[in-house]
Amino acid sequence: MKTVSQINNKGSQPRDSFGSKFGFIAATAGSAVGLGNIWRFPYITGENGGGAFLLIYLAFIVIIGLPVMLSELVIGRSTQRNPFGAFRKLKPGSKWFLIGIMGIAAAFMINAFYSVVAGWTLEYLVNAITNQFSGKNTGEITALFTNFQGSAWRPVFWLLVFVAVSASVVLAGVQKGIEKYTKILMPVLLVLIVILCVRSVTLPNSAEGLKFLFNPDFSKIGPSTILIALGQAFFSLSIGMGTLITYGSYMKRNENLGSSATSVVFADTLIAILAGVAIFPAVFAFGISPASGPDLVFLTLPNIFARMGGGFIFGLLFFFLLVVAALTSTISILEVVVAYFSEELKMSRKAATLLASAGIALLGILCSLSLYKVPEISIGNTNLFGVLEYVSSNILLPLGGLLIVFFVAWLFGKDKLKNELSSNGKYKIGYYAIYRFIIKFLAPLAIALVFLNGLGILTF
Ligand code: PHE
Repeated sequence: MKTVSQINNKGSQPRDSFGSKFGFIAATAGSAVGLGNIWRFPYITGENGGGAFLLIYLAFIVIIGLPVMLSELVIGRSTQRNPFGAFRKLKPGSKWFLIGIMGIAAAFMINAFYSVVAGWTLEYLVNAITNQFSGKNTGEITALFTNFQGSAWRPVFWLLVFVAVSASVVLAGVQKGIEKYTKILMPVLLVLIVILCVRSVTLPNSAEGLKFLFNPDFSKIGPSTILIALGQAFFSLSIGMGTLITYGSYMKRNENLGSSATSVVFADTLIAILAGVAIFPAVFAFGISPASGPDLVFLTLPNIFARMGGGFIFGLLFFFLLVVAALTSTISILEVVVAYFSEELKMSRKAATLLASAGIALLGILCSLSLYKVPEISIGNTNLFGVLEYVSSNILLPLGGLLIVFFVAWLFGKDKLKNELSSNGKYKIGYYAIYRFIIKFLAPLAIALVFLNGLGILTF
């Protein structure tokens, strides 16, 4: 006899789900916490005015990020579908499913360039394990990086390894793969980052680094910094492209959406700040320039590990942390595509995972080559890597977020929204009035203004 969920799924397999609230939070925080927090957030903050940037970022996280996340979860859990199927179910016959398509395209793009850097973290983990940093001077550490990038096949090899590992987790399913691994990996990550923070702030001169991170320099804030802060908030929370719709669709009906989303946002922000605290004091303690771009993690930090007491073990812990953070994020991005392929195109989970991973690997290889080896792989003056990064985090995610909050605020239905948020009256939703105000007016307006301004379409 068929179960209800099998019938609802038109006879396909019963839908997988997270087994517990902690499982959901671990998986979703795992998605949110990633290279965005540890690799991107510290250098973006350093380059854009330190504490001043941090304040804007935090404001965006609370005022826009959290409501967008909640709205995505509402769409996902109420429909129990992938992003494309969710909008088709909510507004059949309309064009709203395009949000889902946009999200799936963004998932391909992000996963491609993300896996490139994730691959580098594997190379550096191996460097750390084989004690490559110790005793090397700055020139030799730079050579380690340039030699790696100068070889076409090594970055590509690690990219493929990374894509294969995340595919194997996703292949095992939501509960037996994603939840099982993130439940172990996320607490490990938290412990590691705290150890690194303690080590960093106990170095001489560490106060300098903390000052750099927290002291606001408003002269650096302009329209483009504000767009970068918004883009970073979206990227870091994994919102605006359907990851949260997908993960929300695996949530049980009786779980509290508001408190789950708050926990995830809190964890993500905490870890981004802790990453800054782990990195900047050490950077200053060794008298290195803080704003050294994306290379901060691969050049600056190995220099520090080379000179720091206990550098071998701290280097190893750091790169292990980076690999874990990257892995729990790529699996969530892959799941968006896999859910779409398997539910809408009626593929088996295995075929969907293989097809999606092959596509991502292919695009990833082009991205990887475009960085150092074949700069001709570019659009205009920007290499493919840069194009995918810019288009996804500064255009597709904010645009997706805008459309999602608009949809939930104006088209989803007020009573349905209240029922979903409160699990049919089970939970108090004291935040409802403010949430509704934000998604109706504030968030769409703020996203639209920042977006148009940052793109130079609207100047003020
Ligand atoms: N949030 C992840 C990070 O900070 C990246 C990500 C973006 C994951 C979008 C999923 C979707 O690294």
